Amino acid sequence: MLYADFVKESYGRECIETSDGFITFSVHKDVCHIDTLFVSRETRGRGAARDLFNKCLAALPEEVTLLTAEIDTRSRVCSESLVCILSTGFKILDLRDPYIRIYKRIRGE
Ligand SMILES: CC(C)(COP(=O)(O)OP(=O)(O)OC[C@H]1O[C@@H](n2cnc3c(N)ncnc32)[C@H](O)[C@@H]1OP(=O)(O)O)[C@@H](O)C(=O)NCCC(=O)NCCS
Repeated sequence: MLYADFVKESYGRECIETSDGFITFSVHKDVCHIDTLFVSRETRGRGAARDLFNKCLAALPEEVTLLTAEIDTRSRVCSESLVCILSTGFKILDLRDPYIRIYKRIRGE
């Protein structure tokens, strides 16, 4: 898991990686910020992103009650990213150009 080592050493982020993709995130007190979610082209559309997302949730400390993330509007897959992440229950917070900031409350909604 070289990429996991890289993000941990460089940014202090956690990384959960499977043969299908990876998710990176960092936790500060009661907030978990999801930085990256990526699934290989060959396995898309079969629930791998949802599986990684659920693995991330399962790894979070009990005190985490808020998930945050940003969609980069400059990304070539901005629309797909947004549809996917909104389908997992995230809501749009605001636009902080060039990022759409999104959030999801967990535990005690
Ligand atoms: C976005 C991405 C992570 C989705 O991975 P995936 O394994 O195909 O997603 P899943 O099969 O787990 O689908 C999760 C949900 O998102 C929806 N979804 C995923 N990709 C979608 C797309 N392109 N258009 C519409 N809905 C999509 C699925 O319908 C599913 O919802 P459902 O369970 O209600 O049907 C993948 O396409 C990817 O890595 N893209 C490039 C990087 C990227 O955009 N990352 C940011 C993601 S927020």
